[in-house]
Amino acid sequence: MKKTWLFLVICLTSYVALGQTVRERINFDDDWYFAYGHPFDKTKDYHTGTSYFTYLAKARYGADGAAAADFDHRAWRPVNLPHDWAVEVPFDAKASHSHGYKAVGPGFPETSVGWYRKIFFIDSTQLGHQIFLDFDGVSRDSKVWVNGHYLGNEPSGYQSFSYNISDIINYGADNVVAVRADVSMEEGWYYEGAGIYRHVWLRTTPALHIPKDGLFVHSEVTDSHAQVFIETEVDNKGDAEQHFSVRHRVLDAAGNMVVQSADETAALLPMDNALLKTRVQVEAPQLWGLDTPYMYQLVTEIWADGQLIDQYQTSFGIRTIYFDADKGFFLNGKHAKLKGTNNHQDHAGVGCAMPDELIRWRLQQLKNMGSNAIRSSHNPPTPELLDLCDEMGILVINENRLMGTTNKALYELERLIKRDRNHPSVIVWSIGNEEWGIEWNEIGARMTQTMQNFARRVDPTRPVNVAISGGWGQGSSTTVEIMGYNYLVHGDTDEHHKNFPHQPSIGTEEGSTFATRGVYFEDNERQYKVAYDVKPRPGWFTIQEGWKHYAERDYLSGMFIWTGFDYRGESTPYTWPSVTSYFGMMDVCGFPKDNVFYLKSWWQDEPVLHLLPHWNWQGKEGDTIDVWVYSNCQELELLLNEQSLGTKTMPLNGHLSWKVPYAPGTIKAIGYNNGEHVLTKAHTSTGAPQQINLKAHQTVLKEQNDLAVITVEVHDEKGLHVPTANNLIEFEIDGPGKIIGLGNGNPTSHEKEVFIDNYQQIELPETSLYSLTDAKLARQLTVLDKKEQKYIKQLEAEKALVTEFVLAEMPNENQIYTWYYIHVGQKQRVYLNGHLLSAQLSANDKHASFVIDNSLLKKGTNHVLLITQPFEPQNEWDKPNRKAGVIQVITESELPNRQLFNGLAQVLVQSTGEPGQITLKAKSEGLQEGAICLDVVP
Ligand code: GAL
Repeated sequence: MKKTWLFLVICLTSYVALGQTVRERINFDDDWYFAYGHPFDKTKDYHTGTSYFTYLAKARYGADGAAAADFDHRAWRPVNLPHDWAVEVPFDAKASHSHGYKAVGPGFPETSVGWYRKIFFIDSTQLGHQIFLDFDGVSRDSKVWVNGHYLGNEPSGYQSFSYNISDIINYGADNVVAVRADVSMEEGWYYEGAGIYRHVWLRTTPALHIPKDGLFVHSEVTDSHAQVFIETEVDNKGDAEQHFSVRHRVLDAAGNMVVQSADETAALLPMDNALLKTRVQVEAPQLWGLDTPYMYQLVTEIWADGQLIDQYQTSFGIRTIYFDADKGFFLNGKHAKLKGTNNHQDHAGVGCAMPDELIRWRLQQLKNMGSNAIRSSHNPPTPELLDLCDEMGILVINENRLMGTTNKALYELERLIKRDRNHPSVIVWSIGNEEWGIEWNEIGARMTQTMQNFARRVDPTRPVNVAISGGWGQGSSTTVEIMGYNYLVHGDTDEHHKNFPHQPSIGTEEGSTFATRGVYFEDNERQYKVAYDVKPRPGWFTIQEGWKHYAERDYLSGMFIWTGFDYRGESTPYTWPSVTSYFGMMDVCGFPKDNVFYLKSWWQDEPVLHLLPHWNWQGKEGDTIDVWVYSNCQELELLLNEQSLGTKTMPLNGHLSWKVPYAPGTIKAIGYNNGEHVLTKAHTSTGAPQQINLKAHQTVLKEQNDLAVITVEVHDEKGLHVPTANNLIEFEIDGPGKIIGLGNGNPTSHEKEVFIDNYQQIELPETSLYSLTDAKLARQLTVLDKKEQKYIKQLEAEKALVTEFVLAEMPNENQIYTWYYIHVGQKQRVYLNGHLLSAQLSANDKHASFVIDNSLLKKGTNHVLLITQPFEPQNEWDKPNRKAGVIQVITESELPNRQLFNGLAQVLVQSTGEPGQITLKAKSEGLQEGAICLDVVP
């Protein structure tokens, strides 16, 4: 206690001495501007890269078009991150099957390049610090400029990357960052989104500092204590040699100090860096586990001349992991079967741009199913997902994107490992998935060995895995440390285990079964698969068969189902019009399909009883309905309208089924253990929909970017949920919240997922220059009223600049036209279709804007006339501006709406930054309105 107090005093003193915090990390997600560019039509890409000297030729000087510091982006659409523009575009039969038929990517150049720009102020007191822009991930092939300086290119949509911008900042002034993302070529074979779909951060450190991902903490645990090993990189980006010491404190979850390291001292020349290694001992450590995900904090400080220079915080967990070739996986010495799912990173309504709370919500749905692990197939996840897995006690197979052993490819793997190695949730590095060109041959064997050696050097604490779909017994599978079986249909795991008795293994993919939520009769015309657990193809395995195989073999560490959630793309076994996969245990909204309850029955200990299908089969009276029960109760009795249809014993890891002739009423299952009633589940045939009902996963939201996942359903007059309802529902929202996306889990739905105002730009063509007496100008001048004509006649130094633009239609009342003007000369007199918009705009007013009264605009040609003393070139190479800016057209969106699919839809509501109350109302013809209130608190 005393020690903590003392430490606080020291800290405060040093902060006061410095007069500012030593390091800062500020979220950089808000206040960006977005517009489409073009992959090859330079005129549609703001002419970027077309100058005589390009941005690759000259630093800063060469930045042109939308990359230039002074480019005017006011007409672009304001957006906050994370942002995925692919969700905003329509579905299109000609678009990519694997990416969910969104009109982006190959064949859609108009929507395949996105530009983002943001203006930010950096205080003059920051001079001397190191300033970085950290991107969690941009899809994809991003290029970044700050103040016109080209910073670099990141081809992958999944790697986090960072740029040091310290030298090029305008201190005490505005700065501008421009990002160009290009998705015209695909990286994965699944929906990947488009744009800055993960967070961006502005990080400020002292010149002498611990670089990003520059600290590695890991531990060895004995019965009574843990040795905590700490490796710290220090960079000196200052101009002088630095002598300093590094000190670490371990804090417990309540913030109390547990142990402090001895000081390590070192010296660094400018631009040099050092790696310091030390260790501390934590007595009686609280271990990180699935039920008790206990996290420690490591506070690392750099001190020089009695001053605190840098302070770096690392969350970490103390735990042991071990894979045994015969007995499977052990966490903290205790056996834990991996009950996992594979997942991509998109969700209904928002695509890949998932708010953190949505990631948490999805992980919670997986946990609710009894799952304890995920595989981030097939790419590095967003870092926030790993923070949540640490916090929630979920194990992670963390996957690299592309196999390779060049320096560049190994560097990609190194970046992933260094970024994520302090997360206790991460238990395995997966270096590859189904690398069909190599997995079965000796190239695969060699590459696996090389990457594995490399991974071990960067992180000696975790094993390496490859997910292999063929050639078991050859190629990669002969050298990989942990064998990854992708699908039992591809070989014999017992045989492989016999031949490689010292190799641990995991079922990295199993399942790939097809199911549509709420569908119980296959309908190939509408492209719906049944939700019963049936074989996806002859010879393949059901979820139950897959799990039984893995559950019955100790040497298999566990199984990862393909997939936890449906995702966009890969709508196998169908193509268009299906746009999402059918593999998920849950649909794209996270609504459970029935398989969830099979797994829940055998993946966790709480009693489970689930009955399928629903009991609304009007028109099928007398027909046989397959009734299934998922449960972990010992005995199950089924009753139709209180008549028993028999009692059956539940087989281990199995399910029960009855053939029942349909009669309306109530179908009921009762579960017993040792003859005692445990659970009852019933479905009753419902009446017609009557009332809309809204439920939120949380009704109190934090102010900034918090989220409510809202389920929309309809009830009949008795209040029963109608599982077959498909009403179209319209939504209205009030208060400090917005609807960021809608979905319903229907794999063939092409409804809009986001309802946003449409932004278009009409770039005004270059003006023609006339003297005021030029005959060609006469017509333009005669449309002005007499007073204006008289005024212009007496001008001497002025000239006329003239241009025109065409409107295909008259503006309508939902449209707002704003002219974002850029100055062209001194004392500008601005006319649109003969109407004076500004009498004397000064040249200093570089960026004026005019909201145009719609009645001034015409269908067809509209005339722009500027009377001014135009800017003249001062040098031979000067090109004075002759373009008078851009007209922005905003077309307001209609109200958001969505159809229910088999009784359900989902609305995602996000808080927008102020406290207050959000009200969401839902209406549909013939139904009673539904409403929900959410409190937004500071
Ligand atoms: C696997 C592959 C996954 C997904 C799945 C669909 O072979 O690893 O990414 O494509 O098939 O069944």
